[in-house]
Amino acid sequence: MQIIRFFLLLLMSVGVLSMNDPYRLTDLFKPEHYNLRILTHLNGPNQLRFEGQVKIHFHVLDQTRNITLNAKNLTIDQNRVTLSSQSGNNCIVNAELNEDKELYILHLCEVLQQTVKYELIIPFKGPLNSNDTGYYWSSFQDSLTNQTSYLAVTQFSPTFARLAFPCFDEPHLKATFRVTLGYHRNYTGFSNTPIAKCEDHETLANYIWCEHEPIFRTSTYLVAYAVHNLTRVATQSIDTVHNVTFSSWVQPKVVNEAHFLSNLAPKVLSHLEKLLEYSFPLRKVDQLAVPTHKFSAMENWGLITFKESKFVHNDREEMLESKESKSSTMAHEYAHQWFGNLVTMKWWNDLWLKEGPSTYFGYLTLDALMPDWGTGDRYFANDLATFFRQDAINSTIPISRDVQGSESILKQFSEYVYKKGSLTVRMLHKLLGDEIFYSGIRSYVKKHAYDSVVQTDLWQVMEEAVNAHSSHNKTRVSTVMDSWTLQAGYPIVSVNRNYTTASVTVNQTRFWLVDDEDHPASCWWIPLTFVTQQQANFNMTQPQFWLKCPKIDRTLELLHKPTADEWIILNPQVNTIYRVNYDDRNWRLIINTLNSAENFGGVHELNRAQLMDDLMALAWKEMQSYELAFSLLEYLPLERHYIPWKRILDVLNRHGDLLSYGNANIFRMFIRKLVASLYERCPSLESLQTTTTSIQEITLCRLAYAEACRYGLENCTDQAMGFTLETDEEQVPVDFRDIVFCTNIEFGNEMQFELMMQRFQNKTFESRKSAWATGLGCSRNFTQLQQFLDYLLQSTEATTGNYYVEAVTSALHRKYVALETSEHILQHATILNDKLNAKQIKSLVLLLVENDTIFIKEEKLQELKSLKKFKEPLELAVELRKVNQKWLTERSQEFIRVLTKYI
Ligand SMILES: *[C@@H]1O[C@H](CO)[C@@H](O)[C@H](O)[C@H]1NC(C)=O
Ligand SMILES: *[C@@H]1O[C@H](CO)[C@@H](O)[C@H](O)[C@H]1NC(C)=O
Ligand SMILES: *[C@@H]1O[C@H](CO)[C@@H](O)[C@H](O)[C@H]1NC(C)=O
Ligand SMILES: *[C@@H]1O[C@H](CO)[C@@H](O)[C@H](O)[C@H]1NC(C)=O
Ligand SMILES: *[C@@H]1O[C@H](CO)[C@@H](O)[C@H](O)[C@H]1NC(C)=O
Ligand SMILES: *[C@@H]1O[C@H](CO)[C@@H](O)[C@H](O)[C@H]1NC(C)=O
Ligand SMILES: *[C@@H]1O[C@H](CO)[C@@H](O)[C@H](O)[C@H]1NC(C)=O
Ligand SMILES: *[C@@H]1O[C@H](CO)[C@@H](O)[C@H](O)[C@H]1NC(C)=O
Ligand SMILES: [Zn+2]
Repeated sequence: MQIIRFFLLLLMSVGVLSMNDPYRLTDLFKPEHYNLRILTHLNGPNQLRFEGQVKIHFHVLDQTRNITLNAKNLTIDQNRVTLSSQSGNNCIVNAELNEDKELYILHLCEVLQQTVKYELIIPFKGPLNSNDTGYYWSSFQDSLTNQTSYLAVTQFSPTFARLAFPCFDEPHLKATFRVTLGYHRNYTGFSNTPIAKCEDHETLANYIWCEHEPIFRTSTYLVAYAVHNLTRVATQSIDTVHNVTFSSWVQPKVVNEAHFLSNLAPKVLSHLEKLLEYSFPLRKVDQLAVPTHKFSAMENWGLITFKESKFVHNDREEMLESKESKSSTMAHEYAHQWFGNLVTMKWWNDLWLKEGPSTYFGYLTLDALMPDWGTGDRYFANDLATFFRQDAINSTIPISRDVQGSESILKQFSEYVYKKGSLTVRMLHKLLGDEIFYSGIRSYVKKHAYDSVVQTDLWQVMEEAVNAHSSHNKTRVSTVMDSWTLQAGYPIVSVNRNYTTASVTVNQTRFWLVDDEDHPASCWWIPLTFVTQQQANFNMTQPQFWLKCPKIDRTLELLHKPTADEWIILNPQVNTIYRVNYDDRNWRLIINTLNSAENFGGVHELNRAQLMDDLMALAWKEMQSYELAFSLLEYLPLERHYIPWKRILDVLNRHGDLLSYGNANIFRMFIRKLVASLYERCPSLESLQTTTTSIQEITLCRLAYAEACRYGLENCTDQAMGFTLETDEEQVPVDFRDIVFCTNIEFGNEMQFELMMQRFQNKTFESRKSAWATGLGCSRNFTQLQQFLDYLLQSTEATTGNYYVEAVTSALHRKYVALETSEHILQHATILNDKLNAKQIKSLVLLLVENDTIFIKEEKLQELKSLKKFKEPLELAVELRKVNQKWLTERSQEFIRVLTKYI
C-alpha cells in the first residue's frame, strides 16, 4: 500500500503541475482542421523566406473571450487576422505575442460559444530558419559547377511547428490538415500526402501552387513539407497492404550511395505492418536526405527526413558498424509510424511511450530482416550497460516525468529515455511471452489509432490481453510497470541459498554506486525467474515468483530443487533490469561451470556479460571482493562472443582510465595479456581486407584490434605499422582505419603527423576524417596535437565538433599528453560552448571525469557553469567525480593487488 500511495502522489503532482504549467495551452480549444498555404522563396542566400496563411477550424469547450495558440518567430499582421463563424465575424480587440512562452493570444470583443464552429485565419511570414528547426533551409553544392542549391524543409518535432505557422502545438490536439505549397517551377514540393492538383500562381511568373491531398487526424509535430531540387533514387517496391509507393531524394553526388537504405525502407515497413497487423495508412512515402538535420532522422507521416549522412552509405569508405547503425535508425523511424504517429502520447512527459517501443521494434525488425547481423542482442547489451551505469547515480530521474516549456521538452529526448524505454518494453515482452505481448500490442495500436494515450492505456490493454489468456495468473500490469517507469533507478536482488533445505531467500534494495544515508527507501515489483544448472533453459523467461513492493524479502522453494553442488542463476537473458548478487558458494559454482563446462553450461551470453558486470560493480562497492570478481574473469580466454567481451572490456577500461603512473602500466600489461586470447583468434589485417567477412566477425575483431593496439600488444602494433601512411592508406581495411592510423601516429614521427593533418585539411574524403582525427589524437607530442586542435577550433565547418571530440578522446585514452589536452579543453571552454552541440560538450566533460586527469578548481567550475551547455554536464561530472574519488582512495589498491596476480 505504501508504494501505491507514493505513486498516486506522483501521478497527482504531475497532473497538478501540468494544469499550472504556464507554457501549456488551455484545454478549451479543440482544433478540427487546418488549411495551410505556404509560399516558399529560395532565391539565393538573402532571399530564403516564406509567407503563408493558416485557416483553423475549431470549437471551444467552454465560453471564453480570448484564444491562445502557439507561435514563435513569426511576423503576424494583426489587422489581417480574422475570426468568423456562421453567425458572422467576431472582432479582435488586440493580439499579444509572448515570445518567452511561445504563445500568441487574441483578445476578442465577443464571447466564444460551445455550440459554434469557428474559423480563424492568420496570415504570417518569416525567414527560413538556419538552425534546423521549424521551416528551415539547407543547401548543397553542385560538384561540377560549384553552384549552390537551396532547399527548404520542416522539422516540427517536438515544439517547432509554431516556428512555421501559428497552431495549437501540443501532441494530443490532433486535427486534419490540407497543405498547399507555392514555389518556383524549378523545384518540387512535398508534404505528407501526394499532390492533388497544381495551378499557376496568380501573380508570380513561373511559380505554382500545388495542393496536397488532405491528411487524416494527426499531431502538429508530424506535419511536414519541403521544397527542394534533389534527385530521385529508384526504389524497389514491395508488397504492402496499400501498395505504398516509396521514393528517395538525395543530392546528385550521392545518388549511388543511397541504394542500400533506400531499398531497406519498404522491407522494414512491410515487416512491421505484418507484425503489428495494422496496415500503414498512406499511399506514399518520400524519404528525404537533407544535408543538415537537427536529429538523425524524423518520422513525419509519409515524408521521412534523414540527416544525409544517415541515409547514404559507401561500403568502400565507411565501417560496417555504421551501416548497421543507419539501418537501425531507419527501422526506428518506421516503427514510429505506429508508435507515435498512429498512437501518440498525450504529452511529452510520456515521450518514452513512442521512443521505447520504436527503439525496441526497430531492433526486432533488423533481427528479422538481417538475421546474420545479430544486431538486436548486441544493441540490447549495449543499452543494458548504459542503463546500469546511468541509473545508479543520485541525479538520475524517472523516464516518465513532468516537463515544462520547449527546452525541457527537448531535453526529454535523451539517450536514457530511449534506452530505458526500450528495455522497459522488452521487459514487458519477456514477462508476458510472445503470444500475450503481441496480442496486447496489436490491440493497443488498433484501439488507440489516430488518438493519443498515457502510459496507463498501454498497461490496460496489456492487462486485458493477460486476462484473455485465462491460464495466466493475474498480474496487475500497471502496478508492476509503474514501479519501473515512475521511479528512477533499479534494484539489486540478493540471493542467499540454504544448501541444506534447498530453499532460497531473496531481497531487494536500490543499487547505488555510492551509498548514502540520505537515500530514500524504494522498491520494485520484480519478476523472479530462476535457471538451475540441471535445467539450464535460458529461454524460459516468464516469472516463477514475484518480489513485491513494499515487501522486500521472501523465502522461496524452487520448483526444481537445486542440489547443493548445482548453481542457480536469476533473471535469464536479463529480461528485467536489475542486478543480482549471490552467496559466495553459488558464485563459485557458476565460476566453475564457466571455466570447465562445454559451452559454458548453457549460460546465455547476455547473462555471462551481466554476471561480470554485476560482480565488478559489487566489487567496486566492496560488496564482494576483487578476488572473486577476477576469478570469474578467468574463463574469458574461452569466450568467443562479442557481448561478454565488449562489456567486460568497457568495465575494465573505466577502472584503467582512472589509474595513473605505475598502476596504469600494470593495468596495460593485464589487458594486453587478457585480450591476447581474443586477438589470436582474429585473422590478420591483410586477410580481413581480402576476405568478405561477416558483420559479427568484423565487430569482434575490431574490438580485439582496438584494445590490443591501444595497450601495445606487439603483434598488433607491428601489423598496424606494416602499413605505410605515405603509400598504403588505401590498403588499410575500412573498419580498421582509425586503429591503424592511431598506431602509426603514436609510434611514428613528426612527418607522419604533418602528412595526416594535411590530408585532413585538404582531401575531400569526409568519411575518412573521423579516422584521421582519431589518429591525430594519438600523438605523443602535444605541440603537434595542439596545432590540430587549434585548427579545428578555428574551422567554420559544422562537423568540426565531432573531430575535436574524437581527437581528444584518443589523447586522453593514450595518456601521453592527457593533462595538456584536458587543459586545452578547459581553456577553450567558451569557444567550445559556441561551436559544439550539447551532446558533444557532455561527452567532453564526462571524458575529463572518466580520465581523472585534472581537478577543476571551484572558481573555474563556477566560471564554466556559466556556460549554458556546460552547466548540466558539470553537475553530473561533480557527482561522478565523487564516485571515482571514493573508489580511488578506498578500492583501487585492492583492485591493483588482485590484478597483479594475473599478469
Ligand atoms: C482568457 O480567458 C480565460 C477565461 O475564459 C481567462 O481565465 C484567462 O485569464 C484569459 N487569458 C488571458 C491571457 O487573458
Ligand atoms: C526570431 O528570433 C530571434 C532570436 O530568438 C529574434 O532576434 C528575432 O527578432 C525573431 N524574429 C521574429 C520575426 O520574431
Ligand atoms: C536560430 O538561429 C537564429 C539565427 O538564424 C538565432 O538568432 C536563434 O537564436 C537560433 N535559435 C536557436 C533556438 O538556436
Ligand atoms: C569549384 O571549386 C573548386 C574548389 O573550391 C575549384 O577548384 C574549382 O575550380 C571550382 N569549379 C568551378 C567550375 O568553378
Ligand atoms: C536543380 O538541380 C540541377 C542539377 O541537379 C541544376 O542543374 C539546376 O540548376 C537546379 N535548379 C535550381 C533552381 O537550383
Ligand atoms: C530555373 O532553372 C533554369 C534552368 O536550369 C535556370 O536558368 C533558372 O535560373 C532557374 N531559376 C531559378 C529561379 O532558380
Ligand atoms: C495493389 O496492387 C495489386 C497488384 O498490383 C492489386 O491487385 C491490388 O488491388 C492493389 N491493392 C490496392 C489496395 O490498391
Ligand atoms: C541526491 O539528490 C537529491 C535530490 O535531487 C538531493 O537532495 C541530495 O542531496 C542528493 N544526494 C547526494 C548524496 O548527492
Ligand atoms: Zn524516435
